[in-house]
Amino acid sequence: MRISEIRLKNFRNYSSLKVCFEKRINILVGDNAQGKTNLLEAISFLSTVRSFRVKEETDLIKKDCDIARIEGLITSQTGEKRLTALITANGKSLLVYKNPVKKTSEFIGQCNAVLFTPADMDFFEAPPKVRRRMMDVELSKLSAVYMENLNQYAKVLKERNTYLKQERPDLQYLEVLSEQLINLQIPIIQSRREFLDFITERISSLFCRFMDENHVIAVKYDSEFENYDSLYDQLKSKMASSLKRDIALKITHVGIHRDDARFLLNGFDVPTFASQGQKRMLILALKMAILEFIVSKINTYPILLLDDVFSELDIKKKERFANLLPKEVQILITTTEIGEIKGWEESELGVFIVKNGFIAPHKEGIR
Ligand SMILES: Nc1ncnc2c1ncn2[C@@H]1O[C@H](COP(=O)(O)OP(=O)(O)OP(=O)(O)O)[C@@H](O)[C@H]1O
Ligand SMILES: [Mg+2]
Repeated sequence: MRISEIRLKNFRNYSSLKVCFEKRINILVGDNAQGKTNLLEAISFLSTVRSFRVKEETDLIKKDCDIARIEGLITSQTGEKRLTALITANGKSLLVYKNPVKKTSEFIGQCNAVLFTPADMDFFEAPPKVRRRMMDVELSKLSAVYMENLNQYAKVLKERNTYLKQERPDLQYLEVLSEQLINLQIPIIQSRREFLDFITERISSLFCRFMDENHVIAVKYDSEFENYDSLYDQLKSKMASSLKRDIALKITHVGIHRDDARFLLNGFDVPTFASQGQKRMLILALKMAILEFIVSKINTYPILLLDDVFSELDIKKKERFANLLPKEVQILITTTEIGEIKGWEESELGVFIVKNGFIAPHKEGIR
């Protein structure tokens, strides 16, 4: 899968933009605050229908304008698709070609992009919700059913928590809500586990190639369960034994909204054991493993968006990282210093200059 063209209208600092990308490696070079991350944010928005930087989508609309428009031409084995997202103060609308899409879950994943941003450096230290979001974002791009279950779960959970705030909640009604939560979360647990098992299988070898050292990485699904047989019965009894506590503290304690992904390096917890450098390499190895997971599911590589990745790496690691990237994957990579880009043949590079909300191909190549 690749993005062959993007058009932006009143998105962030872009008034009007059209760029055609190269099939393989696209380098976006520019000084600070010129619009490099904004461009990746726009492509990522087409993939996940959310910004990876802000909650308030109106921040995406160019100052003093009413509507932001992102339009991308996505090419894959199944042909070409023109995806459009319109963002206004009253919400957003999504279109495939010119046809409005009713459910977000039908839009997500049509452009599948995997993103690295410098904010990912905090991934292992961040609260569990950040790692849950990583699982949920990747799995939602691959399955509309996953996303719908997740949305439904969030809705019922909110309802149960609100209901728990009542003076004397009715136990039968609580039971109905608990039953719904149990049934909604079983497929979510199964998908998250399958995802993390796949990551565990691949991440060690990616990390070792990257570091040129031997290590073992494991990723564990950190949940209420020690085994995953008869999930229904286990959830039922855990929720039952937590009922008193739920009523007393007026909140739901058991469920997938509490789960986490736990990373182990040579058997030790990554957040407390791994060095800064190891964490940096590990997050990149994780992104590569996610890439492979996506290929295993949809039989095509996602687009890889790398924001400022090379400034984090020394020369050897830059080259090793470039060598880890599969030849089939389209990459958009931002940098302030073109000299930082190492490890690729000049012939496979497309270089673009990003300046104050404009982007132009850099004809002279990288020198
Ligand atoms: N809604 C908006 N309307 C107009 N301009 C905006 C809006 N949101 C952000 N900007 C501008 O976009 C610019 C930042 O762009 P971006 O984050 O893409 O920079 P960058 O090129 O990635 O820089 P760096 O190298 O520092 O990461 C800033 O000048 C900011 O003022
Ligand atoms: Mg930036």
